[in-house]
Amino acid sequence: MNILLTGPQGQVGTALRPLLEPLGTLTALGRDALDLADADAIRAAVQRHRPQLIVNAAAYTAVDRAETEPELAQAINGVAPGVLAEEAGRLGAALIHYSTDYVFDGSHARPYVETDPPHPLGVYGRSKWMGEQTVLASGTPAWIFRTSWVYGLAGANFLKTMLRLGQERESLNVVNDQWGAPTWARSIAEATATLVQQARNSEDVADFIRRHQGVYHMTNGGATTWFAFAQAIFAQRPECRARLNPIPASAYPSPVRRPANSRLCNDRLAQCLHVTLPDWQDALARCLAELPPIPR
Ligand SMILES: NC(=O)c1ccc[n+]([C@@H]2O[C@H](COP(=O)([O-])OP(=O)(O)OC[C@H]3O[C@@H](n4cnc5c(N)ncnc54)[C@H](OP(=O)(O)O)[C@@H]3O)[C@@H](O)[C@H]2O)c1
Repeated sequence: MNILLTGPQGQVGTALRPLLEPLGTLTALGRDALDLADADAIRAAVQRHRPQLIVNAAAYTAVDRAETEPELAQAINGVAPGVLAEEAGRLGAALIHYSTDYVFDGSHARPYVETDPPHPLGVYGRSKWMGEQTVLASGTPAWIFRTSWVYGLAGANFLKTMLRLGQERESLNVVNDQWGAPTWARSIAEATATLVQQARNSEDVADFIRRHQGVYHMTNGGATTWFAFAQAIFAQRPECRARLNPIPASAYPSPVRRPANSRLCNDRLAQCLHVTLPDWQDALARCLAELPPIPR
């Protein structure tokens, strides 16, 4: 099976690469080889590599910056996934795409399910919702996995910021009124690879994905706040000595409002695709176990 992976240097892409490699012939195209803002380049790349499966782990993920670069965010997150899907469809191939909790405004008191109507609060969320719609409108067999609060040891993320500031600062203010599931990039990659393996074991990957196609929520289990997530990180890393202060989101300056409730219900993934990601505490412990030991 020819697999085309975009965003191989991102958090999820980095985790996906070694897990997809054994499942087929993997072509990984970073931004230097394929700029997703260029629709013609996407069409040419897909036609050249003729994949049976495209895994789109690339995205414009700078949530605040997107407010001042709406066209670019829309091109990469909204238009490009649809072009990838259309081109995959021409080849009889399938697409795996990732989306976000930020398609919701967070006003519900319960975890969001896939059938809840999106209502994004900012440019990034709107661009990701557009991407979901362009993929679904293509008619190409596709899985769209919505995830949340992604972290890992690669890339820039909350975990790495906390590990750094926890050593540099005396005290840190962290938001304590936004709820969500921190999700290890590796957990997303493992779940994705398990599903690709299942599809590959069936008669035809695209047919398998078509039979189960659509939007699925895919996060580590449980939920917490950014503040409690930071506490859990510090509890496992004694070198992080900064005092943690809980603050409301209203006290944290940002050009865009984040959902207060980012919790996504993962039942559909468990019931229809038989995949469950570990609880966020277990995933965090596994991730931190891969950090080099603390020098004495
Ligand atoms: N990060 C989160 O907290 C979070 C939460 C919910 C959902 N998600 C979704 O999960 C998926 C994976 O996110 P992630 O955290 O792995 O993102 P990430 O670490 O920011 O990686 C995104 C990748 O996309 C690449 N990219 C950006 N613009 C591009 C362009 N014009 N052409 C080609 N490649 C481009 C980046 O390349 P460069 O390395 O060159 O910049 C980077 O490698 C995305 O769909 C994201 O929306 C993420």
